Amino acid sequence: MAALFSSQLTQEHILETLKTIKYPGLMRDIVSFGLVKGVEIESGIVRIKIVLKTKDANIPQKIENEISAAVGKLSGVKEVHIDMNWTQPEQPHHHDPHARPDDGVPLLPGVRIKIAVASGKGGVGKSTVAAGLALMFQKAGHKVGLVDFDIYGPSVPTIMGISAKPLVHDQKIIPLDRNGMKLMSMGFLVDAGTPMIWRGPMVHQATEQFLRDVNWGELDVLIVDLPPGTGDAQMTLSQKIKLDGVVIVSTPQDLALIDARKGVAMFRTLEVPILGIVENMSGFHCPHCGETTYIFGRDGAASEAETQEVPLLGKIPLVPALVIASDQGDPMGAIEADKELSEIFTAMANQVSKRIGLTTRTLARQH
Ligand SMILES: Nc1ncnc2c1ncn2[C@@H]1O[C@H](COP(=O)(O)OP(=O)(O)OP(=O)(O)O)[C@@H](O)[C@H]1O
Ligand SMILES: [Mg+2]
Repeated sequence: MAALFSSQLTQEHILETLKTIKYPGLMRDIVSFGLVKGVEIESGIVRIKIVLKTKDANIPQKIENEISAAVGKLSGVKEVHIDMNWTQPEQPHHHDPHARPDDGVPLLPGVRIKIAVASGKGGVGKSTVAAGLALMFQKAGHKVGLVDFDIYGPSVPTIMGISAKPLVHDQKIIPLDRNGMKLMSMGFLVDAGTPMIWRGPMVHQATEQFLRDVNWGELDVLIVDLPPGTGDAQMTLSQKIKLDGVVIVSTPQDLALIDARKGVAMFRTLEVPILGIVENMSGFHCPHCGETTYIFGRDGAASEAETQEVPLLGKIPLVPALVIASDQGDPMGAIEADKELSEIFTAMANQVSKRIGLTTRTLARQH
C-alpha cells in the first residue's frame, strides 16, 4: 500500500512534513504558528507560501532552508518553490490604530496600546501587578481595560471581587465596569468549578474567538494579564494581538527567576518589547521591630534585570494587607489605601508610559 501511495503527493503530506519544522528558537511548529498560507502541488512541483513578520533576517532564511530540505526529501517531489513573504514588524511607537494583524481580520480595533503582564512561574503576583498598573494608568487619565486570558484559573473576576457575568449586546460581549475601568476575563466564559482540560488547539481557538467577541469600545490602554508560563497561550496572544510591550513579574526566588528568564527569552523571540521586570514580594518590613526580612531572597529579580539588560520597574514589598484585600476581592482598594504601594505602582506605571510613549499627546484622539 505504501508504495502505491508514495507517488500520490497530497497537501496533507506536505503539511505533515511542515509540522515537523519548528520556528527557529521556539518549540512551536510553523504550521500551528500560522505561517503557512498555502500549499500547491502540480506534477511534483510544490509551491509553499509563507507569511512571516520578524526583524531577524536570519529567520526567513532558516525556515526556507529547512522547508527545502524536508519537503525536497519527500518521494514524488521534483522541485520545491517557497514564496517567502517576509516583512518587518512596525515599531510600537508609530502605533497605527487601524493596523491589522497578519490574517487581515481586525482584532481589538479600538484599543490603542496593549501591554501584557507575564511571569514564567505562577503565583508571583502577576494579576496584582496587572491590576495595580491598570489602576495607575486610569488615575493618569487614560481609558483603561484589564483582561485575563487564564482559562484555567480566571484572575480578574476573583481579584476584583466580581461574580456578575458580562452581558451580550449585538452578539458582542460587553465588559464589566469598575469605576470606568473595563474588566473582562476569559474565565467568564467558563463555569466556575468546572474542571477543564483544554488542548492547545482549543486554547488557540477560544482565545481568538474571545478576542473577536468582546466589545471594548475605545481604549487608550488594555492591560493583558497572561496565564503563567511560556506555552501556546502566551505565543498565540503575542501573535494575535500586536502587543506593544510586556512587563515580567518575578519574586526574587531562584525558581521564579529561572522561569522569568524563559519568559524574557520567549518575548524577545516573539519580538515583543520587554518594558521591564517587576520584583514582587521583595521583602517584608516588620512594623514591630522595624527590620526587613527577605523571605524569597534579596534583589534576585533586580540583578536578573541587570543581567538581561532590561529595566527594573520597581520592587514591591510583601504587604499583608494585600493578601487580605485580595481575598476580599479588593486589591485595588489596598493599593489605593497604602501610600507606599501606590507610590511604587505610580512610579512603575510612569516608567512604562515613558518607555511605550504613552503620553496624553500620543493618546489624543485623531478624529
Ligand atoms: N506584594 C505582595 N504582598 C503580599 N501579597 C501579595 C503580593 N503580591 C501578590 N500577593 C498575593 O499573592 C497571591 C498571588 O498573587 P496573584 O494572584 O497576583 O499572582 P499571579 O501571579 O497572578 O498568580 P497566578 O499564577 O495564579 O495567576 C494573592 O493572594 C496576592 O494577594
Ligand atoms: Mg493571576
